[in-house]
Amino acid sequence: MTAALTSCGSGSTSSDGRAAANDSTATPKSIVIYFFHAGENYAVGNITIGNTRHIADFIIQATGADRWEVEPERSYDLPLEQLTEVALEEQEQGIYPAYKGPLPDLRYRTTIYVGGPVWWGTYPQVLLGALRQCDLNGKTIIPFTTHEGSEFGRCVDDLNRMFPKATFKEGLAVYGHQAADACDDVEKWLRKIGEAE
Ligand SMILES: Cc1cc2nc3c(=O)[nH]c(=O)nc-3n(C[C@H](O)[C@H](O)[C@H](O)COP(=O)(O)O)c2cc1C
Repeated sequence: MTAALTSCGSGSTSSDGRAAANDSTATPKSIVIYFFHAGENYAVGNITIGNTRHIADFIIQATGADRWEVEPERSYDLPLEQLTEVALEEQEQGIYPAYKGPLPDLRYRTTIYVGGPVWWGTYPQVLLGALRQCDLNGKTIIPFTTHEGSEFGRCVDDLNRMFPKATFKEGLAVYGHQAADACDDVEKWLRKIGEAE
């Protein structure tokens, strides 16, 4: 799906970050599935809106895509040192923490943006766990990450392994501490991959 861009800073985003285009009665064909962690984080201090959420909002503003925010049942609002230990333990032990709410109906979605922070080289287990419950084979997947040096890490490889019959478009990896100011970069990328005009 392509959509006309609103310029960064003047988009018609409502208070929850959702674009006015989503008010249309038609279900958008694309959806952004993402996870972020608010709280103490690298290079940004204590934040209430996670870095990845900014990128998700910019994509939604530019494309009119719908959103599904993966909200964990458990809290990750921990001191950073503790959080890094918890995240590593989840990954090493193959724990997929529970998330809130039902899965989105993906039957009529053709394009799925998937985004999250890089935790220990790949997406957080709670996001991977939610994705494991979705069948994205046959869909177009557009990955994005925020990170502090790993770029995509193993995220794209992991998605490829999970959904071997999906089509992948070039993703976007943004430094977390630059995410809030990345609207122009997001729009440029969306135009490059043919998802915005
Ligand atoms: C538990 C944990 C592990 C992380 N591991 C990595 C990593 O392996 N590579 C990297 O570049 N950044 C890593 N980071 C930094 C985050 O990817 C980065 O701060 C990201 O923008 C956070 O996004 P969020 O605010 O949406 O959660 C890690 C951060 C946390 C909290």
